[in-house]
Amino acid sequence: MRERIDPDLPKVELHLHLEGAAPPAFIRSLAREHHVDIDGVFDAAGHYRFGSFAEFLRVYDAVCLPLRQPRDFHRLARAVLEARADDAVIYTEVFLSPDFCGGGDLASWRDHCAAIAEAAAEAQADSGIVMRGIVTAIRHRGPEAARQVARCAAETAGDFIVGFGLAGDENAGSARDFTWAFDCAREAGLGLTAHAGEWAGAESVRTALDAWRVSRIGHGVRAIEDPSLVEYLAEHDIVLEVCPGSNLALGLFPSMPHHPVARLRDAGVRVTLSTDDPPFFRTSLRSEYDALAQAFGWTEADFRAINADATRAAFCDAATRDRILTRLEAPA
Ligand code: ADE
Ligand code: ZN
Repeated sequence: MRERIDPDLPKVELHLHLEGAAPPAFIRSLAREHHVDIDGVFDAAGHYRFGSFAEFLRVYDAVCLPLRQPRDFHRLARAVLEARADDAVIYTEVFLSPDFCGGGDLASWRDHCAAIAEAAAEAQADSGIVMRGIVTAIRHRGPEAARQVARCAAETAGDFIVGFGLAGDENAGSARDFTWAFDCAREAGLGLTAHAGEWAGAESVRTALDAWRVSRIGHGVRAIEDPSLVEYLAEHDIVLEVCPGSNLALGLFPSMPHHPVARLRDAGVRVTLSTDDPPFFRTSLRSEYDALAQAFGWTEADFRAINADATRAAFCDAATRDRILTRLEAPA
């Protein structure tokens, strides 16, 4: 019989988009407040409405429209962190996109980043959840926008901003277009992660590793298509930020038993677990763990090991990492 997973098991989540974690009711009410018409993004039940990945990206852009000012992002971060803490998340790295914060220029970014950092400090005081930010470029907005985002990341790198990432349509542009951005962020001392191996095959994961020298891959699940790459990931301790519910909701795999996360882990790849954009995919880490336990027979010991691996792969300072590891080890 499969083991029951304690819903309050402390969790570490490395792959979460701030705007993608916005509750629909929050966005609907902000849209009313700012007189922005985005009614089309909701279905009759009030959930975000999308079918394909292309549609998901369009709805995602629309959901960001009512987010106008630093105080909107402050409120959003508070709402998102409260929900993540309710899901027993004790540490989270959150993708933050200057492209959605004012004009994407450095001055606007500084104001928005300060508001989000303030919300994170308040949430930590309230519930103990620790948040760090990964400044994230959106690939289909092009290389110049990515360079500007990397400059924003480099200028705000520190205790709160600990990483640089690339999200969006991984088939847009060529890898070379984004090398400067990753080099700029690396020189600023930031941890690096890129979405790859989600909407493109195994070669996109290889390219992200070779061209951008990232230590973590967002998704990366299509690495399973190339056994020699799977071996390489295991050998070089490359960490995958796997978001099974996101992959299922967007139609990448038909059901959890078909998802390659267990095969990757069995092959020695360091997998971590996240929700990506939880209200979009109507998921939580709790329900992800339950579904994985059901599909693959994973036990609480498996999830504890995965959370410890995620903590070791976190981009925060060593003292924070050690504190999180200690909290993970506390008996339930
Ligand atoms: N931005 C938010 N969610 C994403 C995903 N699953 N893939 C690429 N970009 C994203
Ligand atoms: Zn993502």
